[in-house]
Amino acid sequence: MCGIVGYIGREAAAPILLDGLQRLEYRGYDSAGIAVHSEQNGLQIVKTKGRLQALVDIVSTGKPLTGTMGIGHTRWATHGEPSDENSHPHVSEDGRIAVVHNGIIENYIQIKEFLQGKGVQFRSQTDTEVIAHLLEYYYDGDILQAVASVLHIIEGSYALGIICAEESSRLIAARKDSPLILGYSEKGSFLASDVTAIIRHTRDVSYMEDGEIAVLDENGIRVFNTMLESVEKEHSFVDWEVSAAEKGGYEHFMFKEIMEQPEAIRKTAFSRIVDGRIVFEGLHLNEEFIQSLKKIHIIACGSSYHVGMVGKCNLERLLRIPVEVSLASEFRYAEPILDQDDLVIVISQSGETLDTMAAMREASRLGARTLAIVNVVGSSIAKQAHDVLYTWAGPEIAVATTKAYSTQLVLLNMLGIYFADVRGSLAPAEYDRLIRELLELPAKMEQLLEKNGDIQYYASRYFNHESVFFIGRNLDYALSLEGSLKLKEISYIHSEAYAAGELKHGTISLIVPGTLVVAVGTYGKLFDKAMSNVIEVKARGADVLALTTEDRAPEMAKYVDAVLTVPSADDLFLPNLGVVPLQLFAYYVALHRGCDIDKPRNLAKSVTVE
Ligand code: F6R
Repeated sequence: MCGIVGYIGREAAAPILLDGLQRLEYRGYDSAGIAVHSEQNGLQIVKTKGRLQALVDIVSTGKPLTGTMGIGHTRWATHGEPSDENSHPHVSEDGRIAVVHNGIIENYIQIKEFLQGKGVQFRSQTDTEVIAHLLEYYYDGDILQAVASVLHIIEGSYALGIICAEESSRLIAARKDSPLILGYSEKGSFLASDVTAIIRHTRDVSYMEDGEIAVLDENGIRVFNTMLESVEKEHSFVDWEVSAAEKGGYEHFMFKEIMEQPEAIRKTAFSRIVDGRIVFEGLHLNEEFIQSLKKIHIIACGSSYHVGMVGKCNLERLLRIPVEVSLASEFRYAEPILDQDDLVIVISQSGETLDTMAAMREASRLGARTLAIVNVVGSSIAKQAHDVLYTWAGPEIAVATTKAYSTQLVLLNMLGIYFADVRGSLAPAEYDRLIRELLELPAKMEQLLEKNGDIQYYASRYFNHESVFFIGRNLDYALSLEGSLKLKEISYIHSEAYAAGELKHGTISLIVPGTLVVAVGTYGKLFDKAMSNVIEVKARGADVLALTTEDRAPEMAKYVDAVLTVPSADDLFLPNLGVVPLQLFAYYVALHRGCDIDKPRNLAKSVTVE
């Protein structure tokens, strides 16, 4: 979704802003813009609909943008179509104040009517523009004071970057429910919605909290609350390498991240196994709570929700208590029934997904304990959950998640094994066996990644299908959901995942000669049942690409058109292996179709609107 970068310091701002925006491109956007201030030229704004390159072209061919203070933005349209006028920065009528904004101002219509009543002319259809005009309305020679006044009026979510032509020595930032990171450096002070935008300049950062206002100048940053009282900020050190957020010779981030999965799992899992035992440092859940746990709720969106679907199968098997999985966007409006003995696990790569965050807050309001599985350190969900377990997957840049999905799966399984041990529902020998299996997992994934030639071949055979069905049962159904989402989101092929046994209750009417069906049959216990569904679709002429374990491949091959295999493993870890060929299949199909793999149309990496 939208991205923000800001800079004030001793160097030219425009190149820093454009570079930062380029590093935020992965979040998904439809227009971009920057505002730079200099004493000679005042406030200069360049913005345009379309790709960042269009903005770069305008900047490099137009009047040089001089100045050492500026703000930049990539916009993902919510209020108003993608257009030059609706792009940020938005500027006050007198042209003195420029604003970039992530989030949604919920009461913008009332504010707009109020301002129009005062004669203000609006240029865009956005909610953001009201902020620029309101700032002008309140501006009385002190931009910080004007920002504080405006924050008392606007409702909704915001990350704001603001500059004022008359106050060229400071840049103002403010946050509520939308992330903002402050960066400290010898070169000056930085602002970003995502650390990737500024990591080339500094690793010394702090995370703004809701209700905070920051004043950045070339020598440092001061932070205040909404009453303008000073707030002390803790600094954090970003410990991943700049190269982690670069392609490193790969054509696409998605492919690089698929290949990084074994290492990401080693980081996430192995460092938490000490002398053969799982250790979750910093977890506040005590043994008594774990032992008396009656129910687990898993809440997430998209692929993270699919992790939850796998988690339901695995945690119920390990713990023998009910596990309910909910889509975050549904959960919060479903009048959820929660108990103090319930644990709510929220899963989110970005830690900023608004629906997930709102569902977590609702769960917490209803008295449940929350535990978040999150990848982005310092993100809003990580901060607000009672407990957080980080997946240490490193930065995930491709919009379609791969290594975050895999590490989430592993962490959820580890939590299940850990809880089962505390609850006494797992025999010691079984515990040891599962840990051994977990330790073998990355090497098995490496084997799979090495032999991806078959997958490339099948992608070249099937890439021109326009509709695909993924079918599977139990764990394989959960895995099918993810395989299907991966394919549709990056290749734009219509794809649906079905619980295989459900097919004959309606959907089988869509199976005609030549329909591509991806039959996922890795789960040994239901292999025979899965086979009977395969036979049903074959009888209707489907072209079946199957995924199963190596030992079952000969049996599967008797009935289907093509077979992909994964090494055998305990059921708990099968989806971790099974997802790899499905990710690669989606990737190669999208490659054949010439799609923009890392930045699929209409999608955003971090979904911060409802
Ligand atoms: C799909 C994908 C999305 C995310 C979803 C939730 O490849 O990446 O479906 O899984 O938007 O995002 P997070 O995990 O950041 O809450």
